[in-house]
Amino acid sequence: MTPPLSGTTRSGHALLIQGGIPLAGEVEVSGAKNAALPLLAASLLARDPVTLHRVPRIVDVEVLLAILEHLGTRWSWTGPSSLTLHTPELVSVFPPPALVLRMRASFELLGPILGREGEAELTFPGGCRLGPRPIDQHIRAMRAIGVHVTEIEGSVTAAYRQPLAGRVRFQIRTVGGTRNAIMAATLNATEVVLENASTEPEVLALVDFLNQLGARIFVTGDTITVCGVGALSGGEYNVIPDRMEAGTYLLAAAATRGRVTLHGVEPTHLAPVVDQLWRAGASVKLVAPGTLEMDARSRALSPLFVTAEPYPGFPTDLHPQMAAFLATVPGESRIVDRVFPQRTAYLPELARLGARLTWESDLADFRIGGGPLSGGEAHVTDLRAGGALVIAALAATGTSAIAGIEHLERGYQDLERKLATLGATLSLKA
Ligand code: EPU
Repeated sequence: MTPPLSGTTRSGHALLIQGGIPLAGEVEVSGAKNAALPLLAASLLARDPVTLHRVPRIVDVEVLLAILEHLGTRWSWTGPSSLTLHTPELVSVFPPPALVLRMRASFELLGPILGREGEAELTFPGGCRLGPRPIDQHIRAMRAIGVHVTEIEGSVTAAYRQPLAGRVRFQIRTVGGTRNAIMAATLNATEVVLENASTEPEVLALVDFLNQLGARIFVTGDTITVCGVGALSGGEYNVIPDRMEAGTYLLAAAATRGRVTLHGVEPTHLAPVVDQLWRAGASVKLVAPGTLEMDARSRALSPLFVTAEPYPGFPTDLHPQMAAFLATVPGESRIVDRVFPQRTAYLPELARLGARLTWESDLADFRIGGGPLSGGEAHVTDLRAGGALVIAALAATGTSAIAGIEHLERGYQDLERKLATLGATLSLKA
């Protein structure tokens, strides 16, 4: 077994990017971080081995594997992106806090541990700084379906004795809260009904995966019904393509007025971003199944008004990258984020690279754009902020130094190699 946390993080290094080169070429999109992480967690619900294909090789996956190992999972990479996980016995219901604190997604261990063992204890999660990220909806849902939850000193303990049952209407559509409730109920429930549930592609992928292992989970509109099945079998599953990674490359190519072909995408999932690129004036075509071509060369691009909302709205995880692109477009664009209304920490960093911003409140509702970007030094504040700063640096005149690249390693597989394939000139500085 490969040792986890193998030192791939290059904390303290900066990415030097020479801007002004239109990106051109082809890129293979990796599996989705936000689909893979919950599938890894959900593997705890099966006693037999589970093999996942197209798992992204990123630091967040390494951290979750380290946590699973503490819980009793034996895992191994059986191919470049194929991962087999086997948990014949859970040896602990308390994931190690130091690792849990490293990412928000670790809180999605609550559902599967609880589902499998009837009890779980979890430290409050860490993760990207996108404003407050409460867990009240997770806890409210758990209580509504019969779980006894206690919150003490930065951690949550949860337990149940009877099969889970009940109906809950989420007050906010929450991706993680929906998945936690589904995983808690998969094995031991009469009927659990989740209303106003999140139906992002990464939630539906979890439902699909669990159903393939024998679960009985039904999705009708935004209502998800879970009927317990006692046990799941093992099995295999292909992680869906990463729409945030794909969108980042599309926006990077648009910002540099380049042309990029993406392989291995799910076009339906990308419709919200493709639609905006069309409106801006870029050409985006499906040239073969799973292959998308975006061409922004010699195009007069127009400003946009983009609102980040739950799927099928424009994704919050592409809002910063969209801002970086729109910073290069003549005229004034506007961005509003309704999912993380306080996703703004990256804006001063984007301004360091010359982005013109009009920003009146402390909320993510701002105007941007109107002129060329110029190289400078900026610091990555979270994963998607990293995507935005890289895009801005690629589009700017001169060289930029982007510090804090450990955030990028959490979610973008082979970022430097993929960008170099597209003709970017970049290097690492210690
Ligand atoms: N919220 C609450 N209470 C809760 C849960 C959420 O108020 O109990 C609020 C949040 O504060 C936020 C909104 O509801 O304003 C949506 O949060 P959600 O729970 O949907 O987010 P999440 O499950 O913590 C996942 C992704 C994020 C992505 C969001 C929104 C994973 C592992 N993470 O987070 O991905 O931004 O959904 O789509 O799936 C990223 O990849 O960079 C990333 C941050």
